[in-house]
Amino acid sequence: MAALDVRIAAVNVMLQMQSDGGSLTRLLPEAQSQVAEKDRALLQVFCFGMSRWSRRLSGIVDTLLTKPLKRKDTDVYLLLQLGIFQLSHTRVAPHAAVDTTVAAVKHLKKPWAKGLVNAVLRNYQRREDELVSMLDEPAALSHPPWLLARYKKDWPLRWQEIVEQGNLQAPMTLRVNQKQLTTDAYLEKLKDADIDGVRVDAVPSAITLESPVSVQSLPGFEQGWVSVQDAAAQKCAMRLGDGAGKRLLDACSAPGGKTAQAMEQGNWRQVVALDQDPGRLARVDETLQRLNFTSNYELHCADASNLDTWWDSTLFDSVLLDAPCSGTGVIRRHPDIKLLRRDNDIEKLVAMQRRLLTNLWQTLAPGGHLLYATCSILKDENEHQIDWFLQQRSDAKAGQLEQILPGEQGMDGFFFASLVKS
Ligand SMILES: C[S@@+](CC[C@H](N)C(=O)[O-])C[C@H]1O[C@@H](n2cnc3c(N)ncnc32)[C@H](O)[C@@H]1O
Repeated sequence: MAALDVRIAAVNVMLQMQSDGGSLTRLLPEAQSQVAEKDRALLQVFCFGMSRWSRRLSGIVDTLLTKPLKRKDTDVYLLLQLGIFQLSHTRVAPHAAVDTTVAAVKHLKKPWAKGLVNAVLRNYQRREDELVSMLDEPAALSHPPWLLARYKKDWPLRWQEIVEQGNLQAPMTLRVNQKQLTTDAYLEKLKDADIDGVRVDAVPSAITLESPVSVQSLPGFEQGWVSVQDAAAQKCAMRLGDGAGKRLLDACSAPGGKTAQAMEQGNWRQVVALDQDPGRLARVDETLQRLNFTSNYELHCADASNLDTWWDSTLFDSVLLDAPCSGTGVIRRHPDIKLLRRDNDIEKLVAMQRRLLTNLWQTLAPGGHLLYATCSILKDENEHQIDWFLQQRSDAKAGQLEQILPGEQGMDGFFFASLVKS
């Protein structure tokens, strides 16, 4: 089958995201298999860029169209956004951006749209500064109004910085498997492979790369020397302790970044990892095998909050609840969150987090430690959640709390709270 035009493939991904709410993580691999191999990276740049800048791009297109397009012509509307994205945010030469976008119209079988796309893109080139100055706040900042309102309420002095960071691309950070080699030894391996990277302060296992590379080009990736994981997430195992002789429950474990890290950095007697999504749980197994862990772990596909379905009543010394959350701390890595999440999702997530916290607390031994973590920066999912829990449980005491905001030391936004059972 002939390869699909990369611009049309990008439009299709965005159309599908709108129609069935699919994420880029799910939609992109399938779309990449439909374009020529040389276009796969470009397709990713287009889909991430169109998601990241969607609100701004549609604000500009709306101003430039003399009358709105019909719903059935959303493909043309998205192609216009892609053209403007290339002109405003890529190094594609402007004439090439316009020509290739106009040329892509033929695949839509809407000959009337060719002149429109040409006119709109040329008009944009002439009026760029004026058009940008006319945008309302959500379009200018390319964030949905509900999220801006929450950021302003939760972070009155820092919301602008958060938004700015949310529109950047995240760096690629590695976690060196301390069971196999030291971080310094791996830095040497990277140097030999001509890959530049630097250590991250206060996260001993982390190396941030100067520019992203494919995992296949990382020395020793298949042998399990290294994994890809943001430095903020790597703070998790540091908080779980050395695990010596203890049992750990990782209640929401997939795809396994923190399970693997806990096993690399601790000497747990046993690790039990759960996830309710079978496909994602399979990835935990793949990861642990790549990292050469063959024993002292168990994987169960289960709803962690439904103890009757998986728990044998043996208490755990430590519980990690890396809870399902809004992902607002990782928007720079998953810009589609800005398109897919709705304000009323937060309330549902808060309820789910409370159910998980309340039920998992029962599995923790007295004197044990539950680490609650989210990749959210919304207080309702984080510190308010901990306040609520402490009011419910007289046997819970709060230990260390940490909120990392996106971009701090280059890290993702993350929240950790330690709860100790008396
Ligand atoms: C934030 S992700 C976990 C990331 C993982 N800890 C890591 O570091 O790779 C949340 C996970 O929770 C799972 N999940 C959501 N609700 C759950 C539940 N009730 N029981 C078990 N797993 C659940 C989701 O399938 C998802 O894989």
